[in-house]
Amino acid sequence: MQKIGILTGGGDCPGLNPVIRAAVRKGLLEGYELLGIKDGWKGLVENNTMPLDVNAISGILNKGGTILGTSRTNPYKKEGMLPKVMDNFKKMGLYALIAVGGEDTLGVASKLVDDGLTNIVGVPKTIDNDLSATDYTFGFDTALNIATEAIDRLHTTAESHHRIMVVEVMGRHAGWIAVEVGIAGGADVTLIPEVPINIEEVCNVINKRHTRGKAFSIIVVAEGAQFKDKGAILQEQKLDAFGHVRLGGIGEALAAEIEKRTGYETRVVVLGHLQRGGSPTAFDRVLGTRLGVKAIELIKDKKFNRMVALQGIKIIDVPLKDAVKELKTVDLELYSITKVFSG
Ligand code: F6P
Repeated sequence: MQKIGILTGGGDCPGLNPVIRAAVRKGLLEGYELLGIKDGWKGLVENNTMPLDVNAISGILNKGGTILGTSRTNPYKKEGMLPKVMDNFKKMGLYALIAVGGEDTLGVASKLVDDGLTNIVGVPKTIDNDLSATDYTFGFDTALNIATEAIDRLHTTAESHHRIMVVEVMGRHAGWIAVEVGIAGGADVTLIPEVPINIEEVCNVINKRHTRGKAFSIIVVAEGAQFKDKGAILQEQKLDAFGHVRLGGIGEALAAEIEKRTGYETRVVVLGHLQRGGSPTAFDRVLGTRLGVKAIELIKDKKFNRMVALQGIKIIDVPLKDAVKELKTVDLELYSITKVFSG
């Protein structure tokens, strides 16, 4: 019986368990044996696995996170890791591997194909929705709904206290969560990494609202947004194994500047990892399930070095390299919609 390994790497997000469940169910139907590799690429480095039979994946469809665990381990970063990956791939007796991840995990998958581990299929995930070649990544819709609910709640308290509320959302260097929650939550100003912050414009909107009797405002800011003259605000200078800085803090800086310039009381809410937790939405469960099934179909058809993707309403497959070649940033036409509701 041919054996297929599955791993989940990078930041977790709701929808990973539906992918694992779907790949195992479809894989078993097609006569494969499935093996879970724990904690992303770390599990391949350390030969850490768990069997994935039908009972192992029972009852996980509605659970956030990943039963396989995850890590940001980059086998190309530390000397000695790559040979272990190659060696353990053989020791595990794998015929093929499904790598579920974002730009980092899929970037490693693509390099491994170049280095000889040819039978790999990628599945895109991330709350950031910043992967090229797929219209949506699962995890994004859940994060968006969590953030929307948070903004609905903030509206009532902001209005009662006549306050400005700055809400900082995740998304790294792309403003997808910010722009869509700005529209869905009815934010008065939405700030994204793709467009530098014009603080004067932000204060003008707040003042204009006050003049027409609206003594509160909701400002959504993406963690990667930047003031015109300053770079992004970093929580710490240390880089992770993929060279990413840890973002966060723009909300505080923005709130201080707004309060200084307008004189209105301004508070900050950082939604942070709440956006990655809890049950996946129905959209993310369906998308994850479709992608998991398609990943097995690709393996069955020997279509390796590909990534499954959503384009329009169809699940298709694209070269793995296309998925990681550039960051998908916010369409400025979509962003311009937020301006219709400013002021
Ligand atoms: O990529 C997903 C994401 O949640 C980003 O939006 C955020 O910048 C980053 O991961 C946070 O990473 P960590 O969970 O390692 O702090």
